[in-house]
Amino acid sequence: MSKSTRWDSKENESKQLPIYRHKAKLVQAVKDSTFLVVTGETGSGKTTQLPQYLHEAGICKNGKIGITQPRRVAAITVAQRVAQEMQCTLGREVGYQVRFDDCTSQDTVVKYMTDGCLLREVLADPVLSQYSVVILDEVHERSLSTDILLGLLKKVLMDPANATKGRSFPLKVVVMSATLEADKLSAFLSNCPVFAIPGRTFPVTCTFGTAVGPKDTESTGYVKEVVKMALDVHTSEMAGDILVFLTGQSEIERACDLLYEKAETIDYRYDVQDQTVEGLLILPLYGSMPTDQQRQIFQPPPSGIRKCVVATNIAATSLTISGIKYIIDSGFVKQLNHNSRVGMDILEVVPISKSEAQQRAGRAGRTSAGKCFRIYTKEFWEKSMPEYTVPEIQRTSLTAVVLTLKCLGVHDVIRFPYLDCPEERFILGALKQLYQFDAIDRRGKVTRLGELMVEFPLHPGLTRALLKAASLGCEDLLLPVAAMLSVENIFIRPGHPEKQKEADKKHRALAAKSGGTNDFATLLSVFQLCKSSDRPSAWCKDHWIHWRALKSAFSVEIQLKDILHRLQQKRDFPVEKFDGNKSELFRRCLCTGYFTNVARRSVGKVFCTMDGNGSMVHIHPSSSLFDEEVELNWIIFHDVLVTSRVYIRTVCPIRYDWVKDLLPKLHEVDAYELSSVARQEVTDEEMIKWETREAAKRQPEVSTEDIM
Ligand code: CDP
Ligand code: MG
Repeated sequence: MSKSTRWDSKENESKQLPIYRHKAKLVQAVKDSTFLVVTGETGSGKTTQLPQYLHEAGICKNGKIGITQPRRVAAITVAQRVAQEMQCTLGREVGYQVRFDDCTSQDTVVKYMTDGCLLREVLADPVLSQYSVVILDEVHERSLSTDILLGLLKKVLMDPANATKGRSFPLKVVVMSATLEADKLSAFLSNCPVFAIPGRTFPVTCTFGTAVGPKDTESTGYVKEVVKMALDVHTSEMAGDILVFLTGQSEIERACDLLYEKAETIDYRYDVQDQTVEGLLILPLYGSMPTDQQRQIFQPPPSGIRKCVVATNIAATSLTISGIKYIIDSGFVKQLNHNSRVGMDILEVVPISKSEAQQRAGRAGRTSAGKCFRIYTKEFWEKSMPEYTVPEIQRTSLTAVVLTLKCLGVHDVIRFPYLDCPEERFILGALKQLYQFDAIDRRGKVTRLGELMVEFPLHPGLTRALLKAASLGCEDLLLPVAAMLSVENIFIRPGHPEKQKEADKKHRALAAKSGGTNDFATLLSVFQLCKSSDRPSAWCKDHWIHWRALKSAFSVEIQLKDILHRLQQKRDFPVEKFDGNKSELFRRCLCTGYFTNVARRSVGKVFCTMDGNGSMVHIHPSSSLFDEEVELNWIIFHDVLVTSRVYIRTVCPIRYDWVKDLLPKLHEVDAYELSSVARQEVTDEEMIKWETREAAKRQPEVSTEDIM
């Protein structure tokens, strides 16, 4: 097919979309008001078309059009699609930016990006002077960054003194959402106009299953069940593509493997109901997949072949795949939640909400009537599934966001205009943690260190460790570690038991090379060994390491180094001295960022955290310390995994000496005191009184001089 005919068909396709008939009115509506809420069913063309309409209407002559997405994959694939529709090279007029991957240029006027990226831009330029229109997309997903952007833009633009400061033309903000929350959004934005794109949807019949009941919240069984259902649909239903919802990469890969295996045994002469169906094309879809593979998802399958996409929740609203007639819904999703038992955010598999289940089912009725097969029981629906999904802002740690707000001059983070207020204890928790990292002082004011920390798109603890290393002149030890912890897991764990053994052996050997008792050091060593190898991809293959993940880590490390060097040049960067060996230096730096994750040996291999929760935690089998013989007394860890036990991963032994001065910080401010700090500016006198009172209360936390 020549380029022009392919383009023609794309153009025709886009004229078929529900949004097309409202083009002129929509463009006018954007021009007429500061805020506009646009709603429309998923797949009506909001994300791909509206920016193009605005571009055509000449809005870009003043500044760029920025469109945010809560998910990286959505930002990238949509930008690809739009570049194709506008017949330009990706990265020129149309580009994207996601964390650690900037595909834009001087020419970019239509810029897709993650909401987190726009939030970082607001930090550098609060009135977004380079933009003529900002479109916050997928607002119904209620991601943390989108919610904060909503509040910030409201605060900036509703105040006429702010709105024009630093800008020569007014900024327009479009807020897009799948129908649900239009009225609420409009009310939040001073009753701004709502533009509803009438949808066309077809009925979807939903059936409940028998496999997953309310007690089956452990996620083991549903993968098999989903596979069984997919094969059932494939053999007994008429032609039409299948979309399966699971929760994450490893599960999806397992399901795809099972499907391949089972699909091989189908005899198309006898086994299938619809004789026009001659084969099954199985495609995984998850966030960290290579982009060329993602593109395949959107292409129609060859004639006679049924496409079966096995996806995460990303296919529920952010991406629309044409031709889907059947949905298979596992009923689960992977979600970041604050876990009060361990006092940390953890990624966990939880039942989806009823509204989410309806959204999933709706994906089958876009072009004709469809069917949705839920593998869970009606009872599961009634007893285990909440009505709505709780917004991220009400269930995750706010540490990074509160620091961002404070750096933007929002001192009172409790009374910030939130669309839905987070619980006060989450805000207090964030303030407390920022205080512990020395990012804010007792009065809630951002410190010099806090100003440096906000520049890094990393967890504040990791940033703290990195900055400590930089001040000691040993950032080369921490930069690779920060990069490795920012990409997906680099260790491959094959499903086959024999291969698994082989991979484990190789990984253990890698750990041994770096001393064998420090998982952070292993990450550093893998990074360095691969980087210095002549054939890095072959090296990875040989050691069961994800080459793609490591390649990203190389790029992330360079980007972090750039940020650091920029800061070191521009500001009065702290400098310290240390005499001691490298291993100790490395671990001491880690302690500065991870002292909130310190645990002390309780009995055997069970450890007790020191953050006031006093949770009992176990070293995860993936750690090189798991079957280590040495006596460990004190350790720090990167994150936790909660199953039937609480496991800690990426572990490093430390000495009590190194944290003993830091540990009192975990307890020295109490939430109530910080709350009054957050509410009002405290006078010096009050502060001195308070500090004296606190000092009197403070008791040494641990008296034994443990050594490791
Ligand atoms: O944003 P909304 O859900 O309203 O729709 P959209 O994402 O703009 O999708 C409009 C159409 O573009 C759908 O028919 C998608 O199938 C198609 N599309 C595509 O083919 N490839 C992409 N990468 C993105 C969208
Ligand atoms: Mg969209």
